[in-house]
Amino acid sequence: MDRDFWLTRWQNNQIGFHEGVANSLLVAHFADLGVPPGGRVFVPLCGKSQDMCWLGAQGFKVVGAELSRLAVEQFFAEQGLTPVVSWSGQMERFEAEGVTLFVGDIFDLDQETLGSVDAVYDRAALVALPAPLRERYAAHLVAVTAAARQLLVTFEYDQTRQSGPPFSVAEPEVRALYGATHRLERAETREVPGGIRGACPARESVWLIKRH
Ligand SMILES: C[S@@+](CC[C@H](N)C(=O)[O-])C[C@H]1O[C@@H](n2cnc3c(N)ncnc32)[C@H](O)[C@@H]1O
Repeated sequence: MDRDFWLTRWQNNQIGFHEGVANSLLVAHFADLGVPPGGRVFVPLCGKSQDMCWLGAQGFKVVGAELSRLAVEQFFAEQGLTPVVSWSGQMERFEAEGVTLFVGDIFDLDQETLGSVDAVYDRAALVALPAPLRERYAAHLVAVTAAARQLLVTFEYDQTRQSGPPFSVAEPEVRALYGATHRLERAETREVPGGIRGACPARESVWLIKRH
């Protein structure tokens, strides 16, 4: 799952992960995080997710990070917005109407470039990464966001039956990644209709992750 894997997916429009509407677990549970009105929400590995529009419509400022410039260009074009483009640290920065998206590798995004955030929304980000990278990702996320509270969506399924992404990330791993710095509550679990690629039953969970 290197950079080229994702860049090629975007170039070939192989973006089955893109929902096209706001994620229903986000809509149902984001308020439970208790983010202050007008707060700044970080969406790592954001793609061109409609979830960012939903967050914006709730009055939050949105900041995302995404490897694919094409995804970010498509996001603003589809919203009918013309972003201001500049450079910040090692990331290219696109900004319009309260949405700031950084193009580049999330591991090159530092705290100064990101700026202060009140919360993280992770859907199809942690689970997009293979196991060795997930540990590095979670530690980096905690570091650059000063351990901001988080809404996390995970999948669980039999990894021997299907390969990722999305990868199966079960409760012990979520606790190992965030339990030292945060308290965790699984707010909802539901069956994924059709499972993973229509071939393997799967459950999807949403986690409320708040600082100790
Ligand atoms: C499964 S998609 C999910 C996108 C979005 N969160 C959504 O729900 O539609 C994962 C995204 O992460 C991006 N990505 C993968 N590795 C990355 C990295 N190291 N830094 C930034 N973005 C990355 C990919 O280009 C892809 O758009």
